[in-house]
Amino acid sequence: MTHILGISCYFHDAAAALLRDGQLIAAVEEERFTRKKHDYEFPQHAIDFCLRLGGIRAADLDYVAFFEKPLLKFERLLLSSMQTFPKSHAVFREAMISWLGDKLWIKHLIEKRLGVPPAKILFSEHHLSHAASAFFCSPFKEAAILTVDGVGEWTTASLGMAQDTDIKLLKEIRFPHSVGLLYSAFTAFLGFEVNEGEYKVMGMAPFGTPRYVDKVHKLIRLGSDGSFELDMDYFSFHYSPDQTFNSRFEQLFGPPRDPKALFFTPASGYPSYFGEKPGNVAELGKENQHYADIAASIQAVTEEIMLKIAQQAYKETGQKRLCMAGGVALNSVANGKILKQTPFEELYIQPAAGDGGGAIGAALYAYHTILGKPRGFVMEHAYWGEEHGADEIEAFLKENGIHYERLENEDKLIERVVDRLQEGKVIGWSQGRFEWGPRALGHRSILADPRRAEMKDLVNVKIKFREPFRPFAPSVLAERVEDYFALPDAQKHFPARFMLYVVDVKEDKRDILPAITHVDGTGRLQTVRREQSPKYYRLIESFGEATGVPVVLNTSFNLKGEPIVNTPKEAFHTFAESGMDVLVLGNYVIEKPLESN
Ligand SMILES: [Fe+2]
Repeated sequence: MTHILGISCYFHDAAAALLRDGQLIAAVEEERFTRKKHDYEFPQHAIDFCLRLGGIRAADLDYVAFFEKPLLKFERLLLSSMQTFPKSHAVFREAMISWLGDKLWIKHLIEKRLGVPPAKILFSEHHLSHAASAFFCSPFKEAAILTVDGVGEWTTASLGMAQDTDIKLLKEIRFPHSVGLLYSAFTAFLGFEVNEGEYKVMGMAPFGTPRYVDKVHKLIRLGSDGSFELDMDYFSFHYSPDQTFNSRFEQLFGPPRDPKALFFTPASGYPSYFGEKPGNVAELGKENQHYADIAASIQAVTEEIMLKIAQQAYKETGQKRLCMAGGVALNSVANGKILKQTPFEELYIQPAAGDGGGAIGAALYAYHTILGKPRGFVMEHAYWGEEHGADEIEAFLKENGIHYERLENEDKLIERVVDRLQEGKVIGWSQGRFEWGPRALGHRSILADPRRAEMKDLVNVKIKFREPFRPFAPSVLAERVEDYFALPDAQKHFPARFMLYVVDVKEDKRDILPAITHVDGTGRLQTVRREQSPKYYRLIESFGEATGVPVVLNTSFNLKGEPIVNTPKEAFHTFAESGMDVLVLGNYVIEKPLESN
């Protein structure tokens, strides 16, 4: 048996993954254990979990694969700060302190932490890890490849071709020219946290009109072959540790948005839960409209770039299938357009498309490409995390004197949840192994009735405490997708299983599904299949039988700013501290008002 542990860390989203003879045993992000969102430190907890689940010790590992080459990355930091010195002195100093610590000596660190000898430690390159994380998890024998992110060692985007166990990256774009960093600059400008708020920009975009596309084009020169170059006069990420855009950028787009300002537009109206209407509501609405227009413009240009690169990938490889990874591949609106507007017939996108996914990519790259072992694994689902059994759940509930019901009969359990959903209740739903990647896919989810328009506000205000402009996602039975969404042959599309496509909600169904239909008539759907998530499937199926609509509203089981829950304890606390009505942990049901035993 060959055991390979993949690791990614020290940038964002540290993660570990364990392969046994090329089959994935476990894959988890460190944040789920440390409860530190986007934790990037050495993923000791994630590694310990993988080894525990695999029933092995670190000494049993045949190889440890790291997702990038630290020396190359250090070289990039060093060279780019030298080119921009003295402006870069702060970034230079920070890089020196942190890189001359652990980051540069990963091999030594892995040796020290895991007791694995240096000969067993392998390194992949950042974008090769992204590429491998998509292609080697896909069912495709051959495919074109696109990886697009902020930056790896030097590469920020690559175009390649893969066949069987071989991946070749044919073209690349290098730092500082980066779609990911361009998008992040707007994320910061619009008042959101970089590497976290990109989803918010995407959610805000449909409230605006892309009237600043010409201005965005001033920042980036885009070739017809999808190549691009940023005009670095507008940016500061190449010399500053905390600023991504500079004063010239502000001259072009005006002052940045106040992160604390409430977002609403004349079209969205002023939501009641913002409290009393301020006197200058019209003026504030206009101000917000300006920012929504900027969000719409950067989203439009990003889609244009992604479409051009994808078209080029098709031209160069002639493949009908495309594999994607890298943080920008989480832009589900752009993904939906690639499927619709390029000749590619099928896409596979790694669900952990960000840097966490590099852990799986590095391990698979080592197994197939370095060791030359044949393929035999397809990532059919994203349930690779920790599971908490009935004993553990019951022990927690008893220890804490929490009143519960145990519904062993699954029909009864499902019936109860369907009843509560129909009554307009909001359900915390924790089942089986938690998800790999940033999306909750029915194992650590908050569920509600998508037919009720008020659910959008209710879940935002009472439970998620998050921005009102962000849409909620629908989970829908795979066989019934085409009744509600414009996604032909929905069953064959892997990215839809991972909530990575935004598509149109059919026009005559938008009124039926108001809580999951975004302001532009789209939805970020998740297709649910019986084989991969039988219990969640049955729940949606039963909800469909009761209401005629086999769709539920699904949002991640966490409070704003916190990682998605893992354990029964975390699920219970999130439930208790929020306005959720019912908590389902495995077959245990807890309802509010809470009573003690
Ligand atoms: Fe990356």
